[in-house]
Amino acid sequence: MKFGVDYYPEHWPRERWERDAELMVAMGIDVVRMAEFAWARLEPRPDVYEFEWLDDAIAVMQNAGIKVVLGTPTAATPTWIAQNDPDTRPVDSHGVRMSFGGRHHVCHSNKRYRERSAAIVTAMAEHYAGRPNVVAWQIDNELGNSHNPLCYCDSCRAAFHVWLEKRYGTIDALNAAWGTEFWSQTYAGFDQIPTPRVTPNSHNPSVLLAWRRFCSDLIITFMNDQCAIIREHDANVPITHNLMGFFDKVDYTRMADGLDFVSHDQYPVGFWTEGSHLQPAHRLAMPLDFMYGLKDKPFWIMEQQSGPAGWETIGATPRPGQLKLWAAQSVAHGADCVVFFRWRTCLVGTEQYWHGILPHDGEPGRRYDELKKTVAALKPVMERCVGVGAEAEVAMVFSYDDLWAHQIQPHHPEYNYTGVFSRFYRALHSRGVPVAIVGPAADLSRYAAVVIPSPFTIDEAFAARLHGYVEAGGRLVVTTRAGIKNRENAVIPVTPPAFIDRLLGVRVSDYDCLRAGAVAVSRNGEAIGSGEFWADVIDEGTAETRARFAGEYYTGKPAATRNAHGNGAAYYIATIPDDGFAAQIVDDLCRDAETHPVLTPPDGVEVTRRRSESEDIVFLLNHADAARSVPVPAEWDVILGDSAAGVVKLPAFGVAVCRAAR
Ligand code: GLA
Ligand code: ZN
Repeated sequence: MKFGVDYYPEHWPRERWERDAELMVAMGIDVVRMAEFAWARLEPRPDVYEFEWLDDAIAVMQNAGIKVVLGTPTAATPTWIAQNDPDTRPVDSHGVRMSFGGRHHVCHSNKRYRERSAAIVTAMAEHYAGRPNVVAWQIDNELGNSHNPLCYCDSCRAAFHVWLEKRYGTIDALNAAWGTEFWSQTYAGFDQIPTPRVTPNSHNPSVLLAWRRFCSDLIITFMNDQCAIIREHDANVPITHNLMGFFDKVDYTRMADGLDFVSHDQYPVGFWTEGSHLQPAHRLAMPLDFMYGLKDKPFWIMEQQSGPAGWETIGATPRPGQLKLWAAQSVAHGADCVVFFRWRTCLVGTEQYWHGILPHDGEPGRRYDELKKTVAALKPVMERCVGVGAEAEVAMVFSYDDLWAHQIQPHHPEYNYTGVFSRFYRALHSRGVPVAIVGPAADLSRYAAVVIPSPFTIDEAFAARLHGYVEAGGRLVVTTRAGIKNRENAVIPVTPPAFIDRLLGVRVSDYDCLRAGAVAVSRNGEAIGSGEFWADVIDEGTAETRARFAGEYYTGKPAATRNAHGNGAAYYIATIPDDGFAAQIVDDLCRDAETHPVLTPPDGVEVTRRRSESEDIVFLLNHADAARSVPVPAEWDVILGDSAAGVVKLPAFGVAVCRAAR
């Protein structure tokens, strides 16, 4: 299976289904995902299951030779649940119970909702176990989405207490860890601990971090309970879930453990997207590399954009060529199957303007034609890529603890952890350096260089791993606000960076939140860029200074340092670099670590590869709306796209693929 569509037979008359299947076959579709919002159809009344229509839809697909991914329908609960058990509806941070409508209008700790979910999943798993045409299960849909704000109901509060007791053991241990002496917040028992609803002032940062972890665990447990039911009945069919890149409610590095493979929803231009249809390549690439890194293996795109995206407002229309470009980009970063959302644009409901491959009238048009050609062009390329890795020499570490701790206390009002992360990613990506994005628990030893933006929270075990990595020859970069907090989100009482100061050869004795704006940075007296949001004032230690601040009372103090340690080196960046400064850091790092770009692409062109033992499949992707030429090594075979005399010609939004023997 290489290409699919998200299909909602329940939205269309029965007479239309065969025609849909025919059109799918004609464009090369191998698989459909169905049923993830169809609970009301599948269980119209409590314990009354109606699977005939879905059996029928699966049969229509099977007759056409199309496989099926079945979604469990727990993302959209029927009215009878909300009505019979009003407590299943979530409560916001003001204590207001939300109304039925929309989807995910549920509390994941609610006992009745859990029971009803387990019942429908069990019924489906029993009914569909062993169906030859069902090739995977998807649990729920985008878990964590629509959970902003999270649920603050009494059931969640009680579940939070159980979670806290398990983590801390005694209330004294919790009081000590959270520093509840502050403002007389000492707790006499777990049952006194609030969910962080609105208060006159901010909550303790420790309770807030614990709450984010708890909410993430709650969703993961909810998902894993469904996985267990399905595995019990249908052990041989793999289970997935559709994740959302850098969405912040669930720790995906942990969620992925419960899945057989990861899926991701990729919408390059949504109604929420800033700017036009032209999006920087790195913004679209970064979530894909993260999805690959979660299990260090190829993933699926379960929803790939196939038209203008809209709810109340509507995003820019993808220009001719962009749908192909974006689908190819997903494959280039490790997708083994690309499922387009959605087959046909719906006539009713919230997503009337979320355009599918077919327009409202159901007749094939521009998008159908483009994607039909895309499928034909990419299938032979994907044939070579199935199961093949997206190997990288450089890794970046993404940490949910650091994300959440920075969201709780961003320091600078405009500071954004994922945004800072993307600056380094962009600097590497735009140079044609493949990047692996991994969680803090990943084995770093296989990477020549590792970048960890703002490792704000730290413990001795993680610090020891970083020491080991550098001693063995690794090149490590960390930025400002490294080693500040313990895992409880309280400050570590030493001069930062805690536990890694010797490794980095620096001590931060003073700092400046850059509320008045950026500060210039220079190297050998020459301006190379600036630092934003924050500047550390460093006492020079054993590290060698690579760049200096050229402004403020700390003019001349280090802005970037390199400390040789064991067989490797550790860099400290004392601010958040702008693009110019980040480029210098990355150039230094790649030289030092002896990493090699696939090739250095012209502006607007992305280059990335999938690498097997015998060959590299190199993708050249033009995100610009003008033609580009890319000289490639003579020994590369161009297997997709135009080339002449060793130069690949990419039209606006063009795609080319080359093969290089290893
Ligand atoms: C998400 C969901 C889909 C649909 C699309 C478009 O990715 O998973 O069900 O809602 O967005 O809004
Ligand atoms: Zn709740």
